[in-house]
Amino acid sequence: VDIAQDNSTVTAKLPSGESVSVLLYGATVTSWKNADGSDNMWLSEKASLDGSKPVRGGIPVVFPVFGPPPSDHATSSLPQHGFARNSRWEYLGKSTSESPPGATAAGDGGVKLDFGLSNANLSDEFKKAWPHEFGLVYSVTLTKIGLHTSLNVRNEGSGTFEFQVLLHTYLRIADISKTSITGLMDVSYTDKVLNATTHTESNASLSISGEVDRVYASIPQDTTSVLIDNKPRFDVVRDNFPDTVIWNPSKEKAAGMKDFAPADGWKNMICVEVGHVNSWVKLEGGEGWEAGQVIKSLL
Ligand code: BG6
Repeated sequence: VDIAQDNSTVTAKLPSGESVSVLLYGATVTSWKNADGSDNMWLSEKASLDGSKPVRGGIPVVFPVFGPPPSDHATSSLPQHGFARNSRWEYLGKSTSESPPGATAAGDGGVKLDFGLSNANLSDEFKKAWPHEFGLVYSVTLTKIGLHTSLNVRNEGSGTFEFQVLLHTYLRIADISKTSITGLMDVSYTDKVLNATTHTESNASLSISGEVDRVYASIPQDTTSVLIDNKPRFDVVRDNFPDTVIWNPSKEKAAGMKDFAPADGWKNMICVEVGHVNSWVKLEGGEGWEAGQVIKSLL
């Protein structure tokens, strides 16, 4: 496994050609390439990668609050989606394994990159807005089977805190008009486009026509799949994450985002964001919590 590291980014490449790049700012996966060099991640051409604002694309990590913080909650002074995506993480190192979980053949071995964030890494402003002692370890594991990203949260203090987590994954797709999503049938969701009203998904296969911003909650099935022309393109498998947000801004909302480019880039992306966002995870002092996803690129 080839590892390249500079002041801003860590990149790992498998002998078989797959690669992943993680920006220390936000521990944001900005690229995850197949052996043929094609990227599974959508990254805006105008994404800021200099640490001046969260990355538009890849996999920003949302913690400890999803969306605008509620005014009556301990996270109320934090920005939308919290501080993890706009703080610089530490690279803790790599581990390699011959046969990772899920390996089906010898030589499926991969590499795990670990990143850490604790209260000591936060800006004074964030420390003040969320005054807890905590430790996050975000592990990005690349194998031939897929990309596994998981977050471990520890409460290092003595009091209890509450948080939400979301892995805000921007998947690159050939054409949104030919895209459908399965695995959400009969699940209850909040539709943020329709005044946060609650609905139940009645489509076994959901197609995207126009803006979509939905929070699917407590999903019983563990896999959400993205299909192009009815052919499976991605499987997103949740582990200990009950919820998934499906988001595409469509033309008008994309035009309103300064860091969104090209203008018609919304045709080539779909966000399938696994998380724990419909309720709060409560963590007592000394306790830990972990959840993750495996994304399989089905070429
Ligand atoms: C999604 C939210 O997770 O993130 C949307 O459901 C939001 O409502 C989108 O617009 C992008 O958020 P941001 O802060 O990165 O522009």
